[in-house]
Amino acid sequence: MVRGLVPTLHMALLLGLGVFVSILASTTTTTARDASVGGCYGMSANNLPPANTVISMLRDNGITSVRLYAPDSAALAALGGTGISVMVGVPNNVLADLATSAPAAAAWVRTNIQAHPAVSFQYLVVGNEVAGGDTRFVVPAMENVHSALAAAGLGGAINVTTAISQATIAVHVPPSAGEFTNESKPFLLPVLQFLERTGAPLLANLYPYFVYTYKAAGDLDVSFMLFTAPGTVVQDGEYGYQNMFDASVDAVHAAVERLGVSGVDVVVSETGWPSAGGEAASVENARTYNQNLVNHVGKGTPRRPWKVETYVFAMFNENLKENGVEQNWGLFYPSTDRVYPITFILN
Ligand SMILES: *[C@@H]1O[C@H](CO)[C@@H](O)[C@H](O)[C@H]1NC(C)=O
Ligand SMILES: *[C@@H]1O[C@H](CO)[C@@H](O)[C@H](O)[C@H]1NC(C)=O
Repeated sequence: MVRGLVPTLHMALLLGLGVFVSILASTTTTTARDASVGGCYGMSANNLPPANTVISMLRDNGITSVRLYAPDSAALAALGGTGISVMVGVPNNVLADLATSAPAAAAWVRTNIQAHPAVSFQYLVVGNEVAGGDTRFVVPAMENVHSALAAAGLGGAINVTTAISQATIAVHVPPSAGEFTNESKPFLLPVLQFLERTGAPLLANLYPYFVYTYKAAGDLDVSFMLFTAPGTVVQDGEYGYQNMFDASVDAVHAAVERLGVSGVDVVVSETGWPSAGGEAASVENARTYNQNLVNHVGKGTPRRPWKVETYVFAMFNENLKENGVEQNWGLFYPSTDRVYPITFILN
């Protein structure tokens, strides 16, 4: 969203014999200093700073939206009253319960959402990258949570959605040919119909890094992944793509439309680049990807040239994840030091 600047206001006050001219050079809202991306606050680690410190780090960096994977009570307590927008996960291991019991969904909402009235909840993410047999619980759990929010007087105030894995995407390039895997279509169609009906966006975890390392879109140069290609790499009808991020986002839009669903927005609920632990994983590539991402998302994609709401994975390196790249996605070390210089606020 682009908010217009309030026009410069010249105000002259005549007071007695003196003339006082007060010029408010600009009265821009604080949005001018808001980061263009949110942060994923993953907690698969045993050495992270306390939640209060982490929320201060968000604020110090101008990051005004955060993704929590579970309703962590210390994090929610620290977020209360900050105005930071919160995307919170309904963890995969409670989906079966919430899908099969409306009272369980109501209790979950009471304990984790209603108990934190000072938190600005924006999204409830009912399941993250759910796959296999558990996919059958996603839509019923979304329905029960949605009803529970409505009964709690929070209907319409919080988007109820789910986050899909990049593995559900069969075709990334060209984006207009974007298509979900045949295996995931029967799961995703009712999810998308729910989102279409309720007006919530689809969340997608999109990693150009893995498109590159798995060659999921053929043999593309790493510069296409890092937003550093000098020109169009993929021409798709009238649209030219200079980076994989845009191609993936537009491929998801095309895949959604291919299922006959329209009007569902896409939010990138995770993206990032590892700084160590695998192919093309380096501090320099991670810095390049994430800084260019921050600089880019406000422009949108060729098919949708307006801001792509995006969350960077992750705030910290997480030492309880698998060895290798998985432990190295952090913008910060648990010490709170930056892994590399990066700024989230654009002037
Ligand atoms: C729901 O998501 C949309 C993005 O598709 C966003 O514009 C809107 O603010 C969200 N609603 C709430 C209540 O957070
Ligand atoms: C899905 O299955 C159909 C029919 O077998 C096939 O033609 C199509 O290529 C498959 N699509 C994908 C994305 O695998």
